[in-house]
Amino acid sequence: MKVRFGKIKRLEVISILMCIMLLLSGCQGAADDDKAAVEPKSDHLLIGMSIDSFLIERWQRDCDVFVSEVRAIDPNAEVNVQNANGDIDTQISQIKYLIEKGADVLVIVCIDSDGLGEAMKEAKEAGIPVIAYDRLINNSNVDLYISFDNEMVGTLMGEALVDSELENKKVLMLSGPTEDSNVSMIEKGFTKVMRDNDVEIIDNFHAAGWRAEEASGYLSQHTRELEDVDAIMCGNDNIATTVIRTLSESRLAGKIKIVGQDADLEACQRVVEGTQVMTVYKPVEKLAQNAARFAITLGNNTRFGTTTALKDVNETISDGTYNVPYYYIEPIAVNENNIDETIIESGFHTRDEVYLNVTD
Ligand code: BGC
Repeated sequence: MKVRFGKIKRLEVISILMCIMLLLSGCQGAADDDKAAVEPKSDHLLIGMSIDSFLIERWQRDCDVFVSEVRAIDPNAEVNVQNANGDIDTQISQIKYLIEKGADVLVIVCIDSDGLGEAMKEAKEAGIPVIAYDRLINNSNVDLYISFDNEMVGTLMGEALVDSELENKKVLMLSGPTEDSNVSMIEKGFTKVMRDNDVEIIDNFHAAGWRAEEASGYLSQHTRELEDVDAIMCGNDNIATTVIRTLSESRLAGKIKIVGQDADLEACQRVVEGTQVMTVYKPVEKLAQNAARFAITLGNNTRFGTTTALKDVNETISDGTYNVPYYYIEPIAVNENNIDETIIESGFHTRDEVYLNVTD
């Protein structure tokens, strides 16, 4: 009897253990494939995208790649793109509209890194995750900041100038607006290289709203100071385009070295023509494709009430108050020696476009 009872007891224990294991593996299954666990709140995924403006060449590409990648991953998903035309109040009301419309996730290229606090609070209250695309949104604890290594952008610009030999060791900075958090990161990288190489920065002008005409206006008023300046660090290639035009009016083009960022077509043409030392190539396709992948994960979390983690996001960055998840891509310095491998082979611009004005 004793023995039989012991056997039954053992069997009971084994079956209880098996039940526990089954339950645990069931939980595991639910966590892996948790999308099917809860009825979605909406019939399709809605991604709200708010863009500063399309004035600068790159943003249309960012937006197009983002939308087509979303469609490739989830053909039923909808991307509602709002263009704020560089106006912060418009951007705030567009974000509020997207929240009201029931967006499952917001992807924002902010105009002013400090200007979206209230809208971000509303998104949080509505349970809508936010991706800060390319520019960090400060003090808002967004769910993800995806960008390039912006400090490295500045470092690469600085190094290219130092390598090009600066006779008088004097440079001028014509940067983007301080409202764009990328600007201070670029400045950090650039000024460090200047400091380390004893190069004097004679001034750092910030072009409001990234308006290139502001930078050229500054130049026109400071032609005297330009006499012994070796180089101008332009906040981006669009500023560089206007700056070079302005310099040629004062017969200074070619005498002053120029660097920029974005690998805009005109800048790439200038690099092969020898009128711009370098530009920084930021593979925006990669940025937009990864952002689309993350937006879908976060948006589906909202729809299905899940908490699926973002894959490959291993860093954080301080937004002033919170450490937010940070995914970044390394930028690449482009000069006349590597433009073929970096720009043409990647398909960013074609050979015909880049070498349009070069005759052999
Ligand atoms: C981006 C640059 C762009 C600039 C103006 C910055 O935040 O990093 O790539 O040229 O905005 O739109």
